[in-house]
Amino acid sequence: MALWGGRFTEGPDQRFKDYNDSLKFDYRLALEDIEGSECWADAIHEAGVLNDQECADLKKALVELHTEVEQDIHAIARESDEDIHSYVERRLIEKVGNLGKKLHTGRSRNDQVALDLKLWCRKAVVRIGEALVSLEQELVKCADKYQGALFPGYTHLQRAQPVTFSHWILAYVQMFERDYQRLMNAADLMSTCPLGSAALAGTAYRIDRQKLALALGFKAATSNSLDGVSDRDHVIELLSCASISMMHLSRLAEDLIIYNSGEAHFVELSDKVTSGSSLMPQKKNPDALELIRGKCGRVVGALTGMLVTCKALPLAYDKDLQEDKERLFDTIDTWEDSLYMAQLVFEGLKLNKDCAVEAARGGYSNATEFADYLVSKGVPFRDAHGIVGRTVLYAIEKKKALEDLTLEEFREFSTVVNEDVYPQLQLENIIAKRDIKGGVAPSQTKTEIEHFKDLLAKHKG
Ligand code: ARG
Repeated sequence: MALWGGRFTEGPDQRFKDYNDSLKFDYRLALEDIEGSECWADAIHEAGVLNDQECADLKKALVELHTEVEQDIHAIARESDEDIHSYVERRLIEKVGNLGKKLHTGRSRNDQVALDLKLWCRKAVVRIGEALVSLEQELVKCADKYQGALFPGYTHLQRAQPVTFSHWILAYVQMFERDYQRLMNAADLMSTCPLGSAALAGTAYRIDRQKLALALGFKAATSNSLDGVSDRDHVIELLSCASISMMHLSRLAEDLIIYNSGEAHFVELSDKVTSGSSLMPQKKNPDALELIRGKCGRVVGALTGMLVTCKALPLAYDKDLQEDKERLFDTIDTWEDSLYMAQLVFEGLKLNKDCAVEAARGGYSNATEFADYLVSKGVPFRDAHGIVGRTVLYAIEKKKALEDLTLEEFREFSTVVNEDVYPQLQLENIIAKRDIKGGVAPSQTKTEIEHFKDLLAKHKG
């Protein structure tokens, strides 16, 4: 049963119907459509459209439908209704007869779909918020477990200065925490209710829009009906939040893929998140991480697609907007799955402390420390930089680490060097000295871990 047809003399071409119908994907808005309809029934009851009995009967039928739909929401996709709004209305009429036809009074599918999607976005925020916090907690747990473990730090993918494994992990906690905050900001901004905007000009019925908005859990009603039905900023914002977060996940994945490579071997991934090769029996491939890295492209594509769909779109509602759903649904699913997959990777992640320390020691990552040592002896930094560069070149030729050079060798380059240079060049010392907010010192890491344990418990609470 179509929601329109009176002014048509012919039915739609089947190919148009297949192209136009959205039930195959917007069935996922079924619960939101019913929840919105329950509140709409109250609103038009108060406006005098429904009497007490009619309102009660409609709401009872909607509650019933809600329960039925919850049991197998996917089954709806196989029905032949045009969209989820047509489906809900048809089912309602099947239950309460002609009374079901009254519910759409004063409402349009334009404000209805805008509402449904906002309600869906709000639930998505909760789902993703939980996944982010859960991943952050796993990362913090791992940082806690490996406190103090040395790790090579890179810039330009060249060994730069030693860090700790925990410090590296906590860098990602910062990113995911920003993702969480960004998501909460987006949730705040999308908290306005478009229902009552009707097709584009606002409803002619005397409904209390503010009361309706509060009943649906929004902070306020939207203030302009044209904007109310055509605004999809919240979809774009969620896709944007997802893109940034997936970009973070892709960096995490890439770091771990490098650290897990045969050449580095700093970490070992568990069998649970790796797969084998059909040809090469020795292989253990980091598929979970590669997929996380790869899926970033799909999510950024969804954001770009949605921006282009909305670009230059005339006010108010246009059918182009129906293109918002598939990419939103797919993005939220992909984002959520990727967050949990990253968590699973960390659950089974092992640090190969020996390889990591060896790498941290190699690559002359204590060269800056040697320069600082010379500075402490009165050498201007620019000169110290040159001295250290020449010393490193010599050490490379001799295939020695800096700390393995003899005092005589050091003194070839600068006479200020004494025995006290050796403790300065120790990695543990280098780490411990960076005892400043944001620095790599274990005492700072400890404070950060405690801070995040509290914060994440609050997010959950
Ligand atoms: N399926 C449509 C969508 O997703 C619902 C709104 C239809 N409105 C209309 N005027 N045809 O956007």
